[in-house]
Amino acid sequence: MRLNADYALDSQSNMVTETDATTDDAGSETTRAGREPPGPDGLPGVGNTFALARDVFGFYERLADEYEGDVARYRVAGDTAYLLTHPDHVEQVLVTDAPRFVKGEMQQRQIGSAFGEGMLLAEGDDWREQRTTAQPAFYRERIEAYAPVAVSHAEAMANEWDDGDTIEIHDAMTELTLSVLARALFGIDIRGRQSPVRAAATATRERFDTSRLGAYLPEWLPTPVNRRYKHSLAALQEFIEELVAERRTADKSGTDLLSLLVAATDGDGMDDETLRDNMATFLFAGHETTALTLTYTLFLLGHHPDTQERLHAELDEVLGDDSPTAAILPELDYTEQVVEEAMRLYPPVWTTFREPAVDTEVGGYTIPEGAVVSLPQWIVHRDERWYDAPLEFRPERWAGGGDDRPEYAHYPFGGGPRHCIGMRFARMEARLVVATLANEFTVESLTDAPLDLTASANALPAEPVELRLSRR
Ligand code: HEM
Repeated sequence: MRLNADYALDSQSNMVTETDATTDDAGSETTRAGREPPGPDGLPGVGNTFALARDVFGFYERLADEYEGDVARYRVAGDTAYLLTHPDHVEQVLVTDAPRFVKGEMQQRQIGSAFGEGMLLAEGDDWREQRTTAQPAFYRERIEAYAPVAVSHAEAMANEWDDGDTIEIHDAMTELTLSVLARALFGIDIRGRQSPVRAAATATRERFDTSRLGAYLPEWLPTPVNRRYKHSLAALQEFIEELVAERRTADKSGTDLLSLLVAATDGDGMDDETLRDNMATFLFAGHETTALTLTYTLFLLGHHPDTQERLHAELDEVLGDDSPTAAILPELDYTEQVVEEAMRLYPPVWTTFREPAVDTEVGGYTIPEGAVVSLPQWIVHRDERWYDAPLEFRPERWAGGGDDRPEYAHYPFGGGPRHCIGMRFARMEARLVVATLANEFTVESLTDAPLDLTASANALPAEPVELRLSRR
C-alpha cells in the first residue's frame, strides 16, 4: 500500500469491478494502450457520485491505493473521469503535453457563470492575451513592492490581538489576505467593504462543497443553495462594476492589476464581461488559497512546539525586532520550509482538472477526448514513494530544496503554461505574514489534528480552527 490512508471499502456504492489488469509486468505500458483503465463502476446512472459525496478524499485515496498503475477511472454525475496519481503523469498533462489538454467543459459548466471569460478558464488566444495583459503586475520587482502591504496589514491585525486571546484563524487570515490583495493588486482599501466578496466566497464554498449531492446538480436548478450562489454573484458583479467605474474616472497611469485590466478594455481590447470575470477570478483565486495556506501553516505550528521553537530561533536571529521585508526573505530558510510543508500536507488546491482535446495516452492507457482528468495534489503530496512518513509535518524535508523526488511530487501551484500566475506573490505573502505573526506570538492549536477538511473548489477546514495566542 502506497498511501497512508485510513478508509473502508464501500460495497454499496462502489462495486469494485476491475475491468483491466493494472500492474502486469514489464510489457504493461504497451499492452494497456488503447484500453480503458480500471476503476469502480459504481451504481447505474450515478456512477461513483455517492462515494465522492461521502468523502472525496477517502474515495481518491482508495482509488490510488487499489489501482496500482497510477491511472484509475471513475464516473461522476454523467462524466467519465480519470485519476492520475504519478508525478510523471502530472508533468505530462500540465507541461509536456499541455497543448493536448484544455480546462474543459466540466469546469466551464461548474464555475463558468462566475469566472467563465476570465483567465482561469479561458482557452487558446483569449487566454494568452489575458495572461500577457496581467503579467506585468506579477513581475518580480512589482511583487516585491507589495511586500510592505502584506507586512503592514499583518502587523495591524497582530496589534489588535492580545496575549491569551483565542482566535478563529481561518476567518482572520481570509480577512487579511483579501485586504492585502485588494490593496496590492487593485489599489483599494477594502477593509469595511469586504462583504460582497466574502458573501460570494461563502456561497461559492457551499455551492461546490463536494459532500453535498447538490454540488453535482446543474446551477440552473432553483435550489436554495443555487439561489444564494446566484444572488451573491450578482452582488459581487455589481461591486466589481463599481470598482471599475471608479478606476475609469480616476488617473489612467496606474500600473496595478486593475489599471492594466481596465486599460485593456480601451479600443478593441478586452470586453467588459471578460474584465468583470477576471476581477472575480483574481478576487477569489488571489485571497482564499493564500488564506488557507496561512491557516494550515499556523494550525500545524500550533501542534508542533519544536518546529515553532526553531522558527522563532530563525526569526530572532534574522529579524530581531525588525519587520520582515522582501529583501530579507532569502535568509528565512526555515520559514520557507514551514510554509512549503504546510502546502504539501494540506494543499489548498486539492486537485487540478483537465480535459484532453484529443485522445491521449497516459501511463500506457488511452484517455479519450472530452474525459475529465483529475490530478490530485491531495494524493500525490501524501504518497510514501516520494515522502517518508508522508502524514507527518516535517519542514526539514525541504532543506536544500528537498530530496531528489520527482519535480511534480509537489505542485501546489499547478505547472506548465497554466501554472498559478500569483505563485510568487502568494509565496512571498505567506512567508511575510508567518514571519510577522510568529515574531509576535506563540500559537497553540485548540482544534484537534488531523484537521477535518471539506473539498469544495478549494480544500477548506470543515470546522473552526482555533488558536490560543501567547505574546512572545
Ligand atoms: C497559496 C496560494 C495559491 C495557490 C495554492 C494557488 C494555486 C493555483 C493552482 C493550482 C493553479 C492552476 C490551476 C490549473 O492549472 O487548473 C492556479 C492558477 C491561477 N491562480 Fe493561483 N494559487 C494561489 C494564489 C494565487 C494568487 C495570490 C493569485 C492572484 C493574485 C492567483 C491567481 C491565479 C490565476 C489567475 C490562475 C489561472 C492562471 C492561468 O490559467 O493562466 N493565485 N493557482
